[in-house]
Amino acid sequence: MSLLKLYILPFLLIFISQISYLTYSQSTPNVCNQNDKNTLLNIKNKLGNPSSLPLWDPNTDCCTQWSTIQCNDQGYVTSLTIQEAHDINGPIPPFLDQLPYLTGLYFINVTNLSGPIPTYFRKLTNLTAFVIWGTKVTGPIPDFLGRFTNLVQLNLPFNRLSGPIPNSLGRLKKLLYLYLASNRLTGPIPTGLNKLTGLSNLDISSNNLSGPIPDFFAKFENLGTINLDSNSLTGPIPAYLGHMPWLTTLSLSNNRLTGPIPTSLGQCNLVLIGLANNKLTGDASFLFDKANKQINEIHIQNNLFKFDFSNVDLSPGLIGFNVSHNMIYGSLPKQFGQLWVDLVDVSYNQLCGPIPNGGLFKSVDPIIFSHNKCLCGGPLPPCKS
Ligand SMILES: *[C@@H]1O[C@H](CO)[C@@H](O)[C@H](O)[C@H]1NC(C)=O
Ligand SMILES: *[C@@H]1O[C@H](CO)[C@@H](O)[C@H](O)[C@H]1NC(C)=O
Ligand SMILES: *[C@@H]1O[C@H](CO)[C@@H](O)[C@H](O)[C@H]1NC(C)=O
Ligand SMILES: *[C@@H]1O[C@H](CO)[C@@H](O)[C@H](O)[C@H]1NC(C)=O
Ligand SMILES: *[C@@H]1O[C@H](CO)[C@@H](O)[C@H](O)[C@H]1NC(C)=O
Repeated sequence: MSLLKLYILPFLLIFISQISYLTYSQSTPNVCNQNDKNTLLNIKNKLGNPSSLPLWDPNTDCCTQWSTIQCNDQGYVTSLTIQEAHDINGPIPPFLDQLPYLTGLYFINVTNLSGPIPTYFRKLTNLTAFVIWGTKVTGPIPDFLGRFTNLVQLNLPFNRLSGPIPNSLGRLKKLLYLYLASNRLTGPIPTGLNKLTGLSNLDISSNNLSGPIPDFFAKFENLGTINLDSNSLTGPIPAYLGHMPWLTTLSLSNNRLTGPIPTSLGQCNLVLIGLANNKLTGDASFLFDKANKQINEIHIQNNLFKFDFSNVDLSPGLIGFNVSHNMIYGSLPKQFGQLWVDLVDVSYNQLCGPIPNGGLFKSVDPIIFSHNKCLCGGPLPPCKS
């Protein structure tokens, strides 16, 4: 080790730290518009200066150092996110209308945020994304949201919103995502929504919506997901649902739907179908058939289905199904023992005969085969020859 090296090293370190200091300050100029920054600090103050917003510091740049804020090239705030902030108690803060370029507003898992969506929000007509997710926000979904005609995402799930879904939302022609799940919404799915023909994702599950599944979804050709689970919907399942080109997930479980399943649902592109806990009748065997090429999961438990399972040519992609609590008779289809299934439940039916390839199921909980007429083998007592 030469003396020279030892001698030079400290200078080198100082030199490097100078360079990195220079590059650091160059890459983070103070770009944040001063008015917008003051507005954000006022908002923080109104929220009670919560410790969950540690980066909102008057001495740093709001555009580059506050992480949950995005700005445009001029330093105006375009997107504001408050996420996983559990120490914010009280209503949605004022002043958000003082950010003239705001297009994205996100409150995500601000679990103690409460009160209604404030009326001054009617001014936020430039929003493209409006998200309140996982809060205690109450009151109605305001009519004025129908004036936010640039909205692409309207995500208001896991709150305590009540009242009807306003008809005015039908004016949101650019909407791709409508996610209103897990609130306390009531009334029918409004006809006003019939103009949302570009929608790709609809989830209004876990509310208390009533009335029928409307006909107008038939025109929503881009829909990939329809989730209407856990409401009080009545009437039949419309046949057009089997003709939607991109529909891969259809969830209608936990409603009061009646009548048979339309046969169109046996030859479609669905990957998952959920119809559990309704009052559906008739044949459901065609859901399981090879013609349903993409199907992975079928949930039809707790209905009034009555059909012969024996000769169904099972779709090879099936990985899970629950058919328990129906009146299914005959034997289990012979391909049953060749499926690579994650979840099966055929209990509480009228099935009979040996479990195909029953050895495979020897160690599973026999409860999934229980309460049938005379199933045997596998985890159940051996068949009598
Ligand atoms: C959230 O609010 C409830 C009551 O409204 C309160 O008991 C609880 O302590 C609050 N949680 C936090 C983290 O402040
Ligand atoms: C909407 O954005 C434009 C600029 O794109 C701005 O001039 C206008 O003030 C904004 N409107 C509102 C209500 O913020
Ligand atoms: C909100 O929190 C829940 C529970 O901690 C979590 O499962 C969920 O993914 C969070 N939501 C978002 C959008 O991050
Ligand atoms: C849901 O709505 C139905 C019919 O509109 C009503 O009978 C029922 O009591 C409601 N349930 C809840 C939990 O509010
Ligand atoms: C099938 O559905 C029944 C009735 O809802 C439920 O009790 C059972 O746990 C489900 N089976 C499985 C394996 O999830």
